[in-house]
Amino acid sequence: MIDLNLIINGLPKSVRSEPTDRLLDILRKEGFLGAKEGCGQGECGACTVILNGKGVASCFIIASQVPDNSTIVTIESDNDLISRIKQSFIDNGASQCGFCIPGFIVSSYILLLENTKPTDDEIKEGLSGNICRCTGYTKIFQAVKEVSLSLEEN
Ligand code: FES
Ligand code: FES
Repeated sequence: MIDLNLIINGLPKSVRSEPTDRLLDILRKEGFLGAKEGCGQGECGACTVILNGKGVASCFIIASQVPDNSTIVTIESDNDLISRIKQSFIDNGASQCGFCIPGFIVSSYILLLENTKPTDDEIKEGLSGNICRCTGYTKIFQAVKEVSLSLEEN
């Protein structure tokens, strides 16, 4: 077993897990159910979370790869920017079945943190690691664009 001290969405959490447990499972066991398992192979983006500032497929990282004292941001975060993105997805009707949406929102958050004014192509590129089987992407891109238009340039 390994013990990890984590900061999840700003709050400290101590977790005990098998070295081979996936980060996705650790989070879900701790009650963070927003990240979803789609492919389970690091390809669809449904399980995206931020680990130490970097977007990762949490289905593809095992506990022994997570440094102690790591900082994790999940879809459950209620910080201002991620909340605005969530609202924009709702306002734009960007979700159908919703399964992929937590991953899209986390990836959109990473994109807008790095670049508040992405071009349409940069939005597509920033979300290219996420797959949606329902929406056709147009409303998702529109939702991200709308938030970007409301942000100051960085
Ligand atoms: S479930 Fe992790 S990338 Fe698809
Ligand atoms: S909304 Fe159904 S997979 Fe994206």
